[in-house]
Amino acid sequence: MSFIVAIDGPTSAGKSTLAKRLSKELGFLNIQTGAMYRCVAKLMMDNCVSLDSIDEVRKILKTLEIDFKDTKDGQLVFLNGKEVTSEIRTKEITDFTSEVASIPIVRTTMVEMQRNMAKRKDVVMEGRDIGTNVFPNADLKIFLNANPKVRVKRRLAELEKNGEKSDFHEIAESIYKWDEEAVHREIGALKRAEDSIYIDTTFLTEEELTKIVVGKIREKYKDDQEL
Ligand code: DC
Repeated sequence: MSFIVAIDGPTSAGKSTLAKRLSKELGFLNIQTGAMYRCVAKLMMDNCVSLDSIDEVRKILKTLEIDFKDTKDGQLVFLNGKEVTSEIRTKEITDFTSEVASIPIVRTTMVEMQRNMAKRKDVVMEGRDIGTNVFPNADLKIFLNANPKVRVKRRLAELEKNGEKSDFHEIAESIYKWDEEAVHREIGALKRAEDSIYIDTTFLTEEELTKIVVGKIREKYKDDQEL
């Protein structure tokens, strides 16, 4: 059986950074489920498929292949064999993805793919519904959160790194909108699993956060072996 670490939390709470570091330190496969929803959004946009054309969405999902590859420069995302790592991070795709992620058939297909990906390997999977819906029996569940202003600043820095300029108020508004949508969507809503470990990352450095979580994973690994 593989060992599964589920990391959930709102946008820019520190999930991706933590998942990347854990995967590097422990050799676990890092599955960014947000990138998977972004790939669906990109494919729909490229093929001019609208949100309410469910038959078209279904067709697109049948052709969908997503792969993650770790390289020395970080993790690359492949959509149907083409590398799309930065293309799926633009503001346009980000905005469209939050709507695409509420389509029920998209969610059920992604969850099935995510469960299959974790069948043979130890994984760190980050998203919104991993500990509650995708892997309710995950070995360790982490829920990250941070002060909203800090989350806006982190998001601005991410966009800037990607060569996109944005303004604080505009991003604050989008984050507020995504939070509302993520919490209130009918399926796959962002909800903290009762048995998750809650960590506020506002005042933590990346190193501090990684150290805390690596410690928890090692404890759990040890406990599992003693059973
Ligand atoms: O984590 P991210 O910013 O890359 O996520 C992109 C979008 O996908 C965001 O709108 C939230 C949504 N998402 C989701 O609904 N469920 C997940 N498990 C992961 C992401």
